[in-house]
Amino acid sequence: MHNSLIDTTFCVRTFGCQMNKHDSERVCGMLEALGSEQVGEIEDADIVVFMTCCVREAADVRLLGQVASLKNIPLRAGSHVSKRVIAVGGCIGQRDGEKLTKELPHLDVVFGTHNLASLPRLVQEALEEGGHHVEVLDESLDFPTSLPIDREHEWAAWLPITIGCNNFCTYCIVPYVRGREKSRPLEDIANEARGYVLSGAKEITLLGQNVNSYGRDLYGKPRFADVLDAVSASGVERIRFATSHPKDLTDEVIEKFATLPNLMPALHLPVQSGSDRILRAMNRRYDSAHYRELVQKVRAACPDIALSTDIIVGFPGETEEDFLQTYELVREIGYHQVFTFIYSRREGTPAADMPDDTPREVIQERFDRLVDAVQEGAWQANQADAGSIVPVLVEGASKRDARMLSGRSPKNQTVHFPLPDGESVSAWTGKTVDVHVTEAKTWYLAGEVVR
Ligand code: SAH
Ligand code: SF4
Ligand code: F3S
Repeated sequence: MHNSLIDTTFCVRTFGCQMNKHDSERVCGMLEALGSEQVGEIEDADIVVFMTCCVREAADVRLLGQVASLKNIPLRAGSHVSKRVIAVGGCIGQRDGEKLTKELPHLDVVFGTHNLASLPRLVQEALEEGGHHVEVLDESLDFPTSLPIDREHEWAAWLPITIGCNNFCTYCIVPYVRGREKSRPLEDIANEARGYVLSGAKEITLLGQNVNSYGRDLYGKPRFADVLDAVSASGVERIRFATSHPKDLTDEVIEKFATLPNLMPALHLPVQSGSDRILRAMNRRYDSAHYRELVQKVRAACPDIALSTDIIVGFPGETEEDFLQTYELVREIGYHQVFTFIYSRREGTPAADMPDDTPREVIQERFDRLVDAVQEGAWQANQADAGSIVPVLVEGASKRDARMLSGRSPKNQTVHFPLPDGESVSAWTGKTVDVHVTEAKTWYLAGEVVR
């Protein structure tokens, strides 16, 4: 097929988790390699790609609205395509496939999570032939590591070490849209990490739905701790990982927080609920006592570690008593960050058939109560850094004030500080600088650069 993408423009809109963000970097890399140019606005794009998420219902509704509204946006002046190509990929593409083109007749391309590499071909077919081009596979043929990539930031890299999930938490759609867990060979991971360091990456984030179960499907059964050692040896300044399932977090991995200097002191350890009854119904396969024991071990290895978590409020059958156990756990642990979600029924998951008669307002009221506790805890946790000096990896200008810089501390706190007079943002972006913290707020630290 001749290349019809030369001199076109494209734009990618990404929803959902870091897995999707990483996939989007590959989508950008592939389209650019074929001569299409990335633009920031949908108005300027000949090709629009939505990388979608269906983990909760709100995401579905948003996608439909966004795609529908594209119908009325005219093509940019000078475009040589006859019609804008709209493509939907990611987890909704995987789940709904052909059905999407029935709901959204002006959609041109649908692809799934297992066939990113097909996107350029599907787009070319749509440009040349018109009509719907849908391709969704049941399984990945391979780990998509050889696809070109255009990283969002030179100084940061997402590095998937596993794809898919075998855990089947009863509320969760991810195993159905991302397939069974597959691990990448250790050598591949080490090579990719070295490549990123050579091209300027300061921070590498290892990705997987459950990084702790890495390697069980590989010859020789390498473990996640081996991955941490290999990536640490690349010499990268900062290593992070997500996500870590409490049932599989080993002492060996916990120990790495004490021994690997470039493993950052921040751990995302989703608890979901503080009630053992609900944890059982969720099929999480740990209880609250085990979770508390893990937190103790982690803090023994790295006393200053910042913990974060995910919590679902309103799982079917959750009572006030169950909720209070979650609430107490949050107050007790003292998280730096808690992502709170109201349970969203996902068709096809076991929890979708579990009865629930808890009124919406009761769930909302519990949710609000929890959010108050989360904010109090986060404020409290940040106070430990007031007055101290923290190394900040600068991410760019602050969104609210162009004369302020923003970055991240080792504990992954957002840190704001003034751009010194006469200096440019770009000269600071991607650098690590010491910041004297003068103020610790709920969601950020503020300070001044130490010269
Ligand atoms: N693999 C990761 C999480 C992926 S989804 C893990 O196991 O931790 C991210 C978060 O979304 C989950 O931790 C959970 O808190 C939330 N979530 C998943 N399904 C949900 C649902 N049906 N309703 C509400 N929240 C959900
Ligand atoms: Fe979903 Fe559970 Fe897998 Fe996380 S571990 S992706 S919550 S099934
Ligand atoms: Fe969403 Fe898919 Fe990630 S459902 S959370 S984008 S794996």
